[in-house]
Amino acid sequence: MCGIIGYIGPKNSIPILINGLKRLEYRGYDSAGISFLNDGKVSVRRCAGKIKELESSIKSEKLKSPIGVGHTRWATHGKPSEENAHPHRAGGIVVVHNGIIENYFELRAGLKKKGHKFTSETDTEVICHLIHSYIKKSKSLEEATKKALKHVDGAYAIGVISESEPDKIIAVKKDSPLVLGIGEGEYFLASDIPAFLKYTRKVIILENDEMAVMTRSGVSISNILKNKPVKKKIMQITWSPTMAEKGGYKHFMMKEIFEQPRAIADTIRGRFSIEKAKVNIEEFSLTESRLKNLKKIFLVACGTSWHAALIGKYMLEDMAQIPCEVDIASEFRYRKPLIPRGSLMIVITQSGETADTLAAQREAKRLGAKVMTICNVVGSTSAREADSVCFTHSGPEIGVASTKAFTTQLTALYLFSIAVAKAKGKLKPKEIKSLFRDLLELPEKVEQALQCNNAILKIARKFHRVSDFLYLGRGINYPIALEGALKLKEISYIHAEGYPAGEMKHGPIALIDKDLPVLALAPDSNVLEKILSNMEEVKSRGGQLIAVATEGNSKIQSRASHVVLMPKTNNYLSPIIFSIPLHLLAYHISVLRKCNVDQPRNLAKSVTVE
Ligand code: F6R
Repeated sequence: MCGIIGYIGPKNSIPILINGLKRLEYRGYDSAGISFLNDGKVSVRRCAGKIKELESSIKSEKLKSPIGVGHTRWATHGKPSEENAHPHRAGGIVVVHNGIIENYFELRAGLKKKGHKFTSETDTEVICHLIHSYIKKSKSLEEATKKALKHVDGAYAIGVISESEPDKIIAVKKDSPLVLGIGEGEYFLASDIPAFLKYTRKVIILENDEMAVMTRSGVSISNILKNKPVKKKIMQITWSPTMAEKGGYKHFMMKEIFEQPRAIADTIRGRFSIEKAKVNIEEFSLTESRLKNLKKIFLVACGTSWHAALIGKYMLEDMAQIPCEVDIASEFRYRKPLIPRGSLMIVITQSGETADTLAAQREAKRLGAKVMTICNVVGSTSAREADSVCFTHSGPEIGVASTKAFTTQLTALYLFSIAVAKAKGKLKPKEIKSLFRDLLELPEKVEQALQCNNAILKIARKFHRVSDFLYLGRGINYPIALEGALKLKEISYIHAEGYPAGEMKHGPIALIDKDLPVLALAPDSNVLEKILSNMEEVKSRGGQLIAVATEGNSKIQSRASHVVLMPKTNNYLSPIIFSIPLHLLAYHISVLRKCNVDQPRNLAKSVTVE
């Protein structure tokens, strides 16, 4: 996830671009850049770091230009550095891009053969070179851009400027957001509305495959697949600038919960082939023979990422039949673990900077294990030090409580488990294809699961004053009980415990009375009957039961006073779906208790000290 901005009009574009990028910094902040045209020549200014570093690096130049584009980056391909920062340039063509180009590797190799010289490790640079290769043979910049995009698979929102037509910006969108701002004789493009809200409240939302050609005299929009002009509605935005930054939500946490269909789609994009029944493990610097020879896997993490690790064990042992051990990183680093030859350690970390996780990662390396990290931040310490990396591509997570980073970690673990199972011959191609089909449906299923928001709000209204909460789960959803309890503690300061439901009779059952809400996770699975009997145990002791179950479950209504139903997925993906109502419940209770949702007391987003 990155942020792009563009401006054409009578004003000096430079401060407009910089101000717009600051409003988009929530989408990425590891490097930034702008490009602008003066006397028909493009100039580019970029640097690693935040927008304010870019701003101070250009301050003394007193730059002026009526047309320009800008970018704030959240790295996906290539580390955060000046060379990898956007805008990218090929000859007189400049491009800013948000998204992921799936076939950039092949495109790049083809262009290199034709003599194109690349200066970055990014996927974006191929778009510049492709447009550049067509510009001389085309009537216009828009025609060259269209021809170039015909070769590109993946997601993109791009802004293009060119020395060949210095009075024009081209904007095109496919599966990444892009909006246009319509001012008085001035026009904007951006990844999100807050970027230009200071200048105009009139907005056009571009849809997939739409191209906007922006000049000083207006904007024309067409569908590039149908080659036809499109009439668009201009919307009037009433949000305040701070609301707009959160996409209209009150808090980043809620925005990030609702971003999950997009985030998961980005995690899986280009990473497997149904026809070949294969995960593209080369991207993670892994080979089938290495996976085939793996003897044991250690999964290590902290907090919510540790919950993902626990679920990863269920997936890996079940699909790939490989023994797994899961550790909390702060325990692993001091417990003198025995690491047999042929072991892989999987580190799971959103930030890639958690001190205990890094220490465990280094300890595992010292003891001879290979390390793979499942990480959200390109260029982070964990990613730099690991032998293999699977980036989750969920975009920056700003709310302290992890939500979309968690479900994308689970998505990455699912893909990795399939890869190991295939290498070890534990799954047949037919079974792999079926697991991939379930994965392709997942963003839509998550979208459906999010519809429980109002039902959860009602439950939150009833229970937000309690002092304790118990979460019960079994099997692969037991860690979701831990996750629900952690989130509630963390952002609403209610004491909560997560338990494997079968363990309840060994102690926690003594707590149950009419004042204790008990949330039971009851997805369709081989342990459903077991959890239903655990619910009976709670009910017969007067506990207040909330059940989250799979739609179509006819036995659940009579067991619980509150029932929330979730769409059906396969067992491995059910924790992703079932975490949604629990994250929403913690969120609503936190808001009702007037807590600081995005920055809970005593907590930091990245725990870089021991
Ligand atoms: C809880 C939460 C934390 C993090 C933990 C690890 O909502 O966000 O428990 O999961 O601090 O952080 P990362 O994944 O960055 O290593």
